[in-house]
Amino acid sequence: MIKTIIRNFTNYFLKGNKGLDDFKTYALNHVDPLQVDGFFHKYDAENLEKYFELIMHKLDNIISKGDVVIEVGCGTGRYLKRIETTFGTGVKLYGLDAIEETLTNVTKKNVSNNVVLIADDFIKTQTLQKGQFNVLFSISVLQYIPFFKLNAFFNKMKEVLKKDGTGYLIFAPKKNKLPNFINSLLDFGFTNYDPELILAKLKKRFSIIEHQYIQVDGKNFGYYILFKN
Ligand SMILES: C[S@@+](CC[C@H](N)C(=O)[O-])C[C@H]1O[C@@H](n2cnc3c(N)ncnc32)[C@H](O)[C@@H]1O
Repeated sequence: MIKTIIRNFTNYFLKGNKGLDDFKTYALNHVDPLQVDGFFHKYDAENLEKYFELIMHKLDNIISKGDVVIEVGCGTGRYLKRIETTFGTGVKLYGLDAIEETLTNVTKKNVSNNVVLIADDFIKTQTLQKGQFNVLFSISVLQYIPFFKLNAFFNKMKEVLKKDGTGYLIFAPKKNKLPNFINSLLDFGFTNYDPELILAKLKKRFSIIEHQYIQVDGKNFGYYILFKN
């Protein structure tokens, strides 16, 4: 276990974030431009489609005409594309992602020029303004944020959301029974977090509206937290 932890840290600080590199490969070698990643049509495709629809249904209810909306870690832009189809130019859409190649080679082709795409690390970016967004959502991104950057990630969310703005966070929840700090160290750079840990951090910054597992055919596919600034 100690060896794994040391290797994780060495890899992260010397070679970069392997989870992100893997996603870049999936996104660039996608089978379908709208898939979540390279697995989409290989494994569990039908359930992943249902999962996508459940998330989209919620997004449709959260977003209102006239909103300024950002997806943090938009990847190939499949959610942005669907929102654009539904709301047209009725909402102002932004997609931010750390991997420029995905945005340039895939996302740009999925959305229109009306969607502002920003290649940057959400935690470090200086391109967003304070209180710029009515709605911020982030799907399957949290696992790439190592535990020591979680506070900075949530602080940034707080900063860029308007007062009373809505946040919608979806992530793959922890499946093992390990204590949170061991879980974070072992799965470093690709951590399935304990919903209780994430909720506690969000409660310090936001008002929680609702939170629960997202189930598809009885399986826990993800966990969502809906909150207000
Ligand atoms: C699994 S993909 C999900 C993409 C999209 N949300 C979806 O569900 O189709 C995770 C994305 O988060 C992005 N990401 C991870 N850490 C990030 C950070 N600190 N800032 C911006 N984007 C980040 C990755 O580059 C990747 O595109």
